[in-house]
Amino acid sequence: MSFSIRYFQTCRDQNRPFVALTATEYTLAKILDQAGVELLLVGDSLAMVALGYPTTLPVSVDEMLHHTRAVVRGVKRAAIITDLPFGSYELSPQQAFATATRFMQAGAQGVKLEGGSPAMTQTVAFVVERGIPVLGHLGLTPQAVHQLGGFRQQAKTPEAAQELENAALRLQAAGAFAIVLEHIPAQVATHITQKLTIPTIGIGAGSHCSGQILVTHDLLGLTEKYPPFVQPVLDLKTVIQSAIEQFCRQVREDIESE
Ligand code: KIV
Repeated sequence: MSFSIRYFQTCRDQNRPFVALTATEYTLAKILDQAGVELLLVGDSLAMVALGYPTTLPVSVDEMLHHTRAVVRGVKRAAIITDLPFGSYELSPQQAFATATRFMQAGAQGVKLEGGSPAMTQTVAFVVERGIPVLGHLGLTPQAVHQLGGFRQQAKTPEAAQELENAALRLQAAGAFAIVLEHIPAQVATHITQKLTIPTIGIGAGSHCSGQILVTHDLLGLTEKYPPFVQPVLDLKTVIQSAIEQFCRQVREDIESE
């Protein structure tokens, strides 16, 4: 069975949590797909974890396309959504549609964009009305890191929580198929999840969203610095480093014993 965009609405309607993770390249995407992850996001966090940029801002459409194509080649079942990178959609609904088209032609089933202002929700409506599924993203929106003053928790006051709820309702009305809620208090995410009829996907937003997403590099313990809400399931950085150190020793010992 492959997971269509409609599948996530069914999960939400049946109160069945689903799993989403980020994917950046072929081999790992294939493993995540075979492990049963239902949604793979070619997230612009790859700017930081795969390309070494300090934020998500510098990654280009061409770089995101390159990674999207690699993920598409590795995946048989999961729905693939790609992030529209910073600067590639904010100017106008037409710009967003033109960029989104390139990702759909690369094999994505939908795109994600950040923000829920009235202008951004008009953009979402424009793209959705033209046949492209859109995943919204609210709360800590990393492309706005400088405006937000850092990668910090959002919606901490009742006013900010209300504003977030309004934005979520706007995105839903605009036709977003789901909304990522990043780094907001659990009770705010729970309340918004109850208010919406579309699924929410939490990251650092408690356990009562319709689905959960994490950056795979963080989950596997590959990144040196990861957000406070992540509990890595592995220390893969150490595992790889010791394996490679062992290989280095073997190679050097073999040469010395000849
Ligand atoms: O870019 C990304 O990986 C994301 C997730 C953290 C939701 O947007």
